[in-house]
Amino acid sequence: MTHAAVADTFGDSSADALADAFTGVFGRAPEGSWAAPGRVNLIGEHTDYNDGYVMPFALPHTTRAAVARRDDGLLRLHSADMDGGVVELEVDALAPGATEGWARYPAAVLWTLREAGHPIGGADLHYASTVPVGGGLSSSAALQVVTALALTELHGVELPRQELALLCQRSENVYVGAPVGVMDQTASACCTQGHALHLDVRALAQRQVPFDLAAQGLRLLVVDTRVKHAHADGAYGELRAGCEAAAAALGLPALRDVAYENLDAALADLPDERLRRLTRHIVTENRRVEEVIALLDAGRTPDIGPVLTAGHVSLRDDFRISCAELDVVVDTALAEGALGARMTGGGFGGSAIVLLEESTEAKIASAITQALPSSRHFLTTPGPGAHRLS
Ligand code: GLA
Repeated sequence: MTHAAVADTFGDSSADALADAFTGVFGRAPEGSWAAPGRVNLIGEHTDYNDGYVMPFALPHTTRAAVARRDDGLLRLHSADMDGGVVELEVDALAPGATEGWARYPAAVLWTLREAGHPIGGADLHYASTVPVGGGLSSSAALQVVTALALTELHGVELPRQELALLCQRSENVYVGAPVGVMDQTASACCTQGHALHLDVRALAQRQVPFDLAAQGLRLLVVDTRVKHAHADGAYGELRAGCEAAAAALGLPALRDVAYENLDAALADLPDERLRRLTRHIVTENRRVEEVIALLDAGRTPDIGPVLTAGHVSLRDDFRISCAELDVVVDTALAEGALGARMTGGGFGGSAIVLLEESTEAKIASAITQALPSSRHFLTTPGPGAHRLS
C-alpha cells in the first residue's frame, strides 16, 4: 500500500536540496529553481485535439529544476532520475529529430522558444521528479513546462501561461514528433490548488472549477497499472487521424462541431463503423464534461461518479483504448462500491482514477491491489500549477 507515500513536499528545504544537487553536478550555484506538476484528467479524454473540452487537475507530484544560464552556447542537462550523467548539447545545433532520450524534451522546449523569437541561450539544468514516469500522469509535460518556465523567467521573457503551454505542445509536436493535444501542458502550467481546470480548447478559455473532495467526505484514488502497451504511441496518431477524417467526412472543422443533439444524424452520415465509434466517443465525452461541471457547480460532487464511469465505458467500447489491466481496476473499484472510476490519459495502460467515499477507501484500495498486484495507488487532491521555488 503506497497511497500516502507521495506528499507535496517542495518547500524551501527541497529547493535547498535541489540547489545542492545542482552544485554537485555543475560545480556552481543555480540562479533559481522551479516546479511543474503532473496531472490527472478528471473527464474529457481525447477531446483536446478535437477542439473540445477537457478537465484535468494538477497532481502534487512535480518535476523540479535548478537552473543557471550559460554564455557559451551550451545546454547541459542532468536528471536525478535518469541514468547516463550530464547530456551536453550545442544550442545552435538543436533541430527536430536531432536529440535522443529524455533530453529531447527540454532540448525541444529551448529550440521552440528560440524559433518563436525569444532570446534564450545556453543553460545548466538539474532535474528531480516525483511524477511517476510512464504512468500516464504527464511526466513529460511537467518536464517541458518546468523547463519553459525556468528559462523564460531567467531571461525576463514574459509569456502568459496558456502561451507557454502551447509552446511546449508545439515542442512535442514538431521536435519530439508526437502529435499530442494541449491538455497536459496546459494542466501543468495553468492549474490551481483545489480546482479542476475546465479548458475549452478551441477558444483557449479557462475556468478554475472548485473541486473540494474532502468537504463532501470523498476521496480520489489514482491507480497506476504500471503497464504501457507497446502500440500506444502509434495508436495515438491513428486515433487523431481517424477523428480528423470523421470531421472531414461531415464537412466540419472538428468533431467539436457535432452538437450532442445532432449526434444520431451525424452518425448516419458517416461511411464506416470505426469513424462512427470515434465520433460517438468525442461527442458524448464533451457532453460529459459539461455534465460534470454542472454537477460540481451544484455542489453534487458524488453524482459525478456515474458520469466518470460512463466515460470509461465509452473509451473502452467506442474509442477502444482501454486494456485488461485498466478494466480490472475500474471493475474492481465499482464492485467494491466506488462512486465512479475511469481510465485517465492517453490509454493502453497508464492510470485510472477512482472516486470513492472516505469510509470505503481501505476496502476498495486493497481489493484493487489484490486484483492487480503490480499496480500502485495513491490518494490525491488538486495541487498548484507550475511555480518558482526559489
Ligand atoms: C495524452 C495527450 C493529451 C490528450 C490525452 C488524452 O495525454 O498528451 O493531449 O490527448 O492523451 O485525453
